[in-house]
Amino acid sequence: MAQDKLIKRIGILTGGGDAPGLNAVIRAVVLTADSRYGWEVVGIREGFDGLLARLPTVELNAANVHDLLARGGTILGAANRGSPFSRPVEKPDGTTEYIDVSHEALEALERLNIDALIVAGGDGTMAIAHRLFLMGARIIGLPKTIDNDLAGTDVTFGFDTAVNTVTEALEKLQTTAESHHRTMILEVMGRNAGWIGLYAGIAGGADAILIPEIPFDIEVVCNKIRALQASGRRYSLIVVAEGAAPLGGQQQYYIQTFDQSRLGGMGFTVGNMLTERMMSEVRVTILGHVQRGGQPTPHDRWLATAFGAAAVNLVAEARWGEMVALKGNHIVHVAMEEAIKMKFVHPKGDLVQVARDLGIVFG
Ligand code: F6P
Repeated sequence: MAQDKLIKRIGILTGGGDAPGLNAVIRAVVLTADSRYGWEVVGIREGFDGLLARLPTVELNAANVHDLLARGGTILGAANRGSPFSRPVEKPDGTTEYIDVSHEALEALERLNIDALIVAGGDGTMAIAHRLFLMGARIIGLPKTIDNDLAGTDVTFGFDTAVNTVTEALEKLQTTAESHHRTMILEVMGRNAGWIGLYAGIAGGADAILIPEIPFDIEVVCNKIRALQASGRRYSLIVVAEGAAPLGGQQQYYIQTFDQSRLGGMGFTVGNMLTERMMSEVRVTILGHVQRGGQPTPHDRWLATAFGAAAVNLVAEARWGEMVALKGNHIVHVAMEEAIKMKFVHPKGDLVQVARDLGIVFG
């Protein structure tokens, strides 16, 4: 595609919840922009919020990003709420009104002399980026989330690290479960997608994996535990995704206010259900934000690095409104609107079948 403007300076922001690999992406963007194209890079703090709030920006260069490859979190900060298309404003009568201030985001890019913007985020951030692109912003997307629920890419960076963390937790729970002859429940993240639960459940030797895509029957889980006990195994490991729900039942939230909701607590519900029905002792662990923290795995480091470099190349090609993605072994680019759609575990997919073949139940 032809460039409509000479690129000299690009911006980068990290939106939504953080994920291991964000700092590796920042580093790769800066190094590629500098060494291949000679462009300046400016970091915008705290996602789109920082752009609107005129937070001081950060001049990024090879010297100040060199040690970011293995660092967790994001040096730019991130915001998991809010959108330039609906900013809350309190009215004199105490009620809240939501107003569209998206034009301020475009003005901010002009003011900061940012010729193109690279946005690393999940579905929410990508939806905002796509709308700004439709308004004329030169934007390129980078798929990030531990949940791996973005369509358009086989995998997002952050997912592998989260799967590693959950797998390690299952291994630790297994040894104490065995000592005490207990059923251990581990609740994991993923919102409405069961990717973390499925991958880590298989890698960590779970006996049951409850995910949002397959509503569960608690009797199936009880029968699995009974069968294990009958075979002489006196402990069991159950993975419960935060978005899982019983057949005919509802998902559970631990935060639910007028403007935000967060899934969580189904692990305790499953624990109560099992305790009511079974003789064995049950204990529940909710892993929570531990899954988002820490150093990225080597897989997430190379993926984030490849995505970051590819995003800069997309800027050079003026492929506005596109997002880098992994398809098979290839780094490709897809329309951002593809990525806004969500990607869920298919209840009859290969990996679910592998798990079933091993005797793992889904409830
Ligand atoms: O999108 C990633 C995610 O970690 C979800 O799995 C989880 O439900 C959510 O973010 C938690 O968000 P917050 O950081 O706002 O509590």
